[in-house]
Amino acid sequence: MAWRNVSHVSRVIFMKKDSKIITFKIKRWDPGKGDWRISTYTVTIRKGMTILDALVHIKETIDHTLSYRASCRMGICGSCGMTINGKPRLACETQILELKSNTISIEPLKNFDLIKDLATDFSLFFEKQTKIRPYLIRSDEDEYWNPSREYKQTPTERLLYEQFSNCITCGLCYAACPTNATNINYLGPQALMNTYRFIADSRDEGTLERIELVDAVDGIWGCHLSGACSDVCPKGVDPALAIQLLRGLVAAKALRRIKHKKATGVVPPSEAKRRKGIPEPPPFNV
Ligand code: SF4
Ligand code: FES
Repeated sequence: MAWRNVSHVSRVIFMKKDSKIITFKIKRWDPGKGDWRISTYTVTIRKGMTILDALVHIKETIDHTLSYRASCRMGICGSCGMTINGKPRLACETQILELKSNTISIEPLKNFDLIKDLATDFSLFFEKQTKIRPYLIRSDEDEYWNPSREYKQTPTERLLYEQFSNCITCGLCYAACPTNATNINYLGPQALMNTYRFIADSRDEGTLERIELVDAVDGIWGCHLSGACSDVCPKGVDPALAIQLLRGLVAAKALRRIKHKKATGVVPPSEAKRRKGIPEPPPFNV
């Protein structure tokens, strides 16, 4: 069967109030042929259905060969990112009827290598993530590797990085970034934002080395200030702001206004208190 520009009509169609017939045009990457093709599917959508629901329906009832990636179906795992009507979005969080279009285009995320159809390769994205050391850097090696106590942090200190810790590494900001589109070595908004997240964490002692790593053309100076990253983030994280704050820190370091940061100390573990009315867990049986 020839698949190029083929139309498929869903068999599970029964029109109800709040339902609508939608045409999906899915741009797919064929790794065998190294070529693009567009498949068109017509599906009856009911109110409340997301793009991911439609993809599941298409795969289960119309075309088993369609590939995409998803897991949690609730905006947590970050694996269902794709370009929907020209904008990077999470498929599981995108309500179809809210797009207000009868024909919806779906393509893989830009700025990523492709695996098949809508599934993209995140290897380079996670390599960059690893490069910025996304964990606490501490000088108390013994305590770090064999923790006996808790690292102290007040609610006010936590607020300094809270929004940046909401990142689910979905890569939408990376796909929207014009610098990533032209420079494969650019760290990208997510990795840069996460660098700031750790610098702002009162428990981290790696400020100077983190600033040194991102003070580069492939780091904070590669940003064109388009703000596209913050615009598409599904979690309200503002990577563009983080990049500007990092630039401020680089300037402060040049003026010798930043010294090695001494992290907050350790405290005994807090005693967990069971809230009234919450039953005891069952005893361990393994
Ligand atoms: S900053 Fe936002 S868009 Fe970028 S990876 Fe994190 S959650 Fe996704
Ligand atoms: S499936 Fe997990 S974020 Fe969409």
